[in-house]
Amino acid sequence: MDVNELISQMTLEEKAQILSGADFWHTAAVERLGLKSFMMCDGPNGLRKQVGEADHLGLNGSISTVCYPTASSVASSFDVDLARELGETLGDECLREDVSMLLGPGLNMKRSPVCGRNFEYYSEDPYLAGKMAAAYVEGVQSKGVLACPKHFAANNQEYRRMSGNSIVDERTLHEIYLTAFEIMVKEAHPKSIMCAYNQLNGTYLSENKYMLTEVLRDKWGFDGFVVTDWGAGKDPAKGVEAGLDLVMPGPCEDHTKAIVEAVNSGKLDEAKVDRAVFNILNAFNRTIENRPEGVLASSDETRKRDYAFAKKLSLDSAVLLKNNKALPIKSDMKVLFVGEFAEKPRYQGSGSSHINSAFVSNALDAAADKNVTFAKGYDTKNPEENFILREKAIEAAEDADIIVIFAGLPASYESEGFDRKDINLPKEQDKLISELALLNKKTVVVMHNGSPVAMPWIDRVDAVLDMQLSGDAAGEAAVDLLWGFSNPSGKLSETYPEKLSDNPSFLNFPGDGGNPEYREGVFIGYRYYEKKRMQPLFPFGHGLSYTEFEYSDITIDKESITDKERVTVSVDIWNVGRYKGKEVVQLYVSPNGSRISRPYKELKGFQKIELLPEEKETLTFTLDARAFAYYETKIHDFYVESGDYTILIGSSSNDIRLTIPVHVEGTTLLPCSFDMFSAISDILDTAKGREVLGPIVDNIFSEMKSNSENADSMGEGGTEMMERMILEMPIGSLSTFGGFDTAQVKKLLRKINH
Ligand code: BGC
Repeated sequence: MDVNELISQMTLEEKAQILSGADFWHTAAVERLGLKSFMMCDGPNGLRKQVGEADHLGLNGSISTVCYPTASSVASSFDVDLARELGETLGDECLREDVSMLLGPGLNMKRSPVCGRNFEYYSEDPYLAGKMAAAYVEGVQSKGVLACPKHFAANNQEYRRMSGNSIVDERTLHEIYLTAFEIMVKEAHPKSIMCAYNQLNGTYLSENKYMLTEVLRDKWGFDGFVVTDWGAGKDPAKGVEAGLDLVMPGPCEDHTKAIVEAVNSGKLDEAKVDRAVFNILNAFNRTIENRPEGVLASSDETRKRDYAFAKKLSLDSAVLLKNNKALPIKSDMKVLFVGEFAEKPRYQGSGSSHINSAFVSNALDAAADKNVTFAKGYDTKNPEENFILREKAIEAAEDADIIVIFAGLPASYESEGFDRKDINLPKEQDKLISELALLNKKTVVVMHNGSPVAMPWIDRVDAVLDMQLSGDAAGEAAVDLLWGFSNPSGKLSETYPEKLSDNPSFLNFPGDGGNPEYREGVFIGYRYYEKKRMQPLFPFGHGLSYTEFEYSDITIDKESITDKERVTVSVDIWNVGRYKGKEVVQLYVSPNGSRISRPYKELKGFQKIELLPEEKETLTFTLDARAFAYYETKIHDFYVESGDYTILIGSSSNDIRLTIPVHVEGTTLLPCSFDMFSAISDILDTAKGREVLGPIVDNIFSEMKSNSENADSMGEGGTEMMERMILEMPIGSLSTFGGFDTAQVKKLLRKINH
């Protein structure tokens, strides 16, 4: 299809119609010109295709299919290949079901652990989230299906989700809330993106020109179309003007009318309507052109294959949080399973991502060939029963060698549309675990949760296996991991704090009237806990294995680089334990010093490898300027400060095994616009400032030194006091303390600012 030719044949009304949906899930068709409509469906952790008539709330039943682990789990695999394979698998299913666009992945940052949709998002770390999302998008689009990453951007809570105003400063926005989107757009070239419901700094995202045009298209080179979140469209003309293309859902006669009127009245340039129509049709056209031939229909066979992949994903995502030699369970042990979730695992979240699963495995059935008995222990729907159920579980434990409690958040706790009130498990589960842990038996907790939970009993249990929300194969995967048929290898993609009030957003979440001020700035997740030197319950990147890995021989190819060069770091990883296992090797960068307040360290690389016992592998990581940069508002861009940095390699954010230094020389000059009130130290931080002012300040210092006896007349430390005073005083004060007159200082300033 020649899209421009097609557009040239359309009337203004037809073009305006294309800019909003035909119904809940379809784009508009123009039959007269042979243009068909395209279907889009929710993901991200399965295909939620509504069958039959689409209703206007999107509530009708959806096809029976496979539910995969949610994004929070997938991120814990730290495996981009698996994220890509998930995209490919879903892309295949879209082809089989004649779906042209998948609404996912979700890659918003986890600012608070209680955001209701955290299970749908990858991480608190933008690098990890960006890499996982990019791989997923590549996977989906490799099948000739459009991916629609969401929700762009600063959409980090559910409270007042359709109207709230996220107030975020420029540096925080780019460094934390946009970086994942930036990585994903630049690496994977999504053909569409969904703008969020909320406002950002007072402007709705669907009308935000800075975000939809200046950042997304002009800075990052996005070349697909922007679609609203469902119902996020506001003023139609303003939307198009800002860079919005498609408003969903439809039908939206008012929208069509408003566009036509805006063009006819001269308020909106028709060329902008053409641009939006082009963006939509071109994206579908280009992606669909690359579809593979001979797509099969969904069948038992495809479902079996997809289920097997769901299991693989869930095995690689589960995180072994603690293990006091209780796991793996030995084959001759008498095991008691306790908890409703052993029979009915909690494996996905609620809302638009909810999948109609064809089959869900449970741990009890999966362990049918083992010496396992069962006690329900608690009932999420019937709390009055819990005292009796608890007593029965304690009684049943008498005969067991090991107790495995399947606990977690009930489905009603984690959903789109509202945030959690706290991070606690239901009280009866905490009580059950605490009481069972008092018995003189090995106690293991298997968790089911899409976001962090407090574990007041952590010191009393022997092991915790965090299955997270791990899709249809949750039960079988848990059993394989518990008995050691598979070795846990997931790492936390989000810090587990001890209590909610430890979280940096606590004082400003969800914000008065749903208008949160992101006052913690760039310090979210581990960036905050590390800066505050706080020990969380479990740190970012943490996860144990049944085997052990040794890290050695870190090397770097250059000790010093400029920000135009790359540096390569190599490290040897050795499986020194008894089991085959996978390790996630994490690379962080830490500035040794900085003019501005920066996180202690930030994730800039990770690789997952599998090693047999005794096997060793050398991994290499290549870092470019961005790994050392922060967002500098003076140039509205990322900027590398000249200085020394440390590269840290570890098995978790708080288990750093090796470090190596590197010097990086920044080559970008920050613009100088100093005035009489600018601090001398700020001026000296710039190259021109150092050139002009450096010798003058050196002179003053050496004069002070030769006069140090007099300085000491001000008490001990007098010289240092004088030095600090000079450095921190406004340059204008040189006319008072430096022997210059005002005209001379102004002359210096002109030289520096030039
Ligand atoms: C959600 C989106 C979803 C859309 C369509 C919205 O309410 O925020 O994530 O894709 O509905 O179901």
